[in-house]
Amino acid sequence: MTTYLLKGVSLLGRDRTDLLLADGRITDASTAGAEVIDADGLVALPGLVDLHTHLREPGREDAETVESGSRAAALGGYTAVCAMANTEPVADTAGVVEQVWRLGRAAGLVDVQPVGAVTVGLGGEQLAELGAMAGSAARVRIFSDDGHCVADPRVMRRALEYVKAFDGVIAQHAEEPRLTVGAQMHEGSVSVRLGLAGWPAVAEEAIVARDALLAGHVGARLHVCHVSTAGSVEILRWAKRSGVRVTAEVTPHHLLLTDASAESYDPVFKVNPPLRTAEDIAALRAALADGTIDAVATDHAPHAVEDKECEWDYARPGMLGLETALSIVYQNGGLDWDQIAERMSRTPARIAGLADHGRDPVPGAPANLTLVDPQARWRVDPTALASGSRNTPYAGMALPGRVVHTFLRGEPTVFEGKATR
Ligand code: DOR
Ligand code: ZN
Repeated sequence: MTTYLLKGVSLLGRDRTDLLLADGRITDASTAGAEVIDADGLVALPGLVDLHTHLREPGREDAETVESGSRAAALGGYTAVCAMANTEPVADTAGVVEQVWRLGRAAGLVDVQPVGAVTVGLGGEQLAELGAMAGSAARVRIFSDDGHCVADPRVMRRALEYVKAFDGVIAQHAEEPRLTVGAQMHEGSVSVRLGLAGWPAVAEEAIVARDALLAGHVGARLHVCHVSTAGSVEILRWAKRSGVRVTAEVTPHHLLLTDASAESYDPVFKVNPPLRTAEDIAALRAALADGTIDAVATDHAPHAVEDKECEWDYARPGMLGLETALSIVYQNGGLDWDQIAERMSRTPARIAGLADHGRDPVPGAPANLTLVDPQARWRVDPTALASGSRNTPYAGMALPGRVVHTFLRGEPTVFEGKATR
């Protein structure tokens, strides 16, 4: 195992220091014989942790594989990702989550932590084998039917009761399905003008409120996926103040893009939940800064060209996120590097129960870290991304902050901006 000496890093954007990586950890042992890396001025962050990644394997390897998604993650500064369960077959058994977990180990670029489905086949009716997934080699702790809402309150209550026993968490895709039948974009003045069916804010807020009440009643942990409205933020504020064990995430795209993007009719901007208004963005940014929203999660949602580059009404919702998240948040989140570490690494690691991640790169910590050049600008070229898909809404944009090196257990997964495997 090579020992690395990172010279002159700016730890969390503050004081310059050297970091020695040996035997998978940051150490303060002797630097003799270490390979020296000039890291002058690079910002060292704990490796990023994504609570919400779609890797599409098994089933849609034409859009993404565990390996291609892992490579995209490492290039984005991530050392761990939570792989969503809406694969084909659905990750609703110990067998499937173990398969995803093993594929992640084989790729070896990030720790892939499978998310288990809440209900069989994401059908919303019958609880999946939550206990068997928790007890499997994948040690699943987050359960989600993401892509679908666990809409039946009785099923949601039972799921919360079940996972409470092992301190699991239900991550809800908050969308009251009866209020979003046929929905194509945010319901508002733009949808009216374009003649596209609306997805109203209340469809999200009704479920966030209901689930906060249920989680409080049961005393179990709830996580709200991709919060997108100002009203949801207010409900979360109330729930947290009331002692409900609730956490929440926001995506980079919901922090930046508005429903006006739909005026282009370019389906790259079609996403679920939909892009909202400038007022929603302001509320989401404030909530991220004050901790009402705990984490940034990408909702990296690769789609094959034939599923995405078609007419708006038929295009699948979702956009790539792993390779651009850090730059988008750095540019638009209004956060300093320590706050970025909090929202993109420490807190998501805690929510996911990943003890070896989300630790600041100081002696004794596992050497899971990323080094960013805050001065570098890079232009997003969809064909140059490592993801197996190219549905990024940031094509052609020049973004600040480039990941230069990423280390997983002391070994580089990204070196000088290139994936090592
Ligand atoms: O935009 C989305 N894409 N939202 C979801 O909830 C699911 C995801 C997907 O799987 O493509
Ligand atoms: Zn979702």
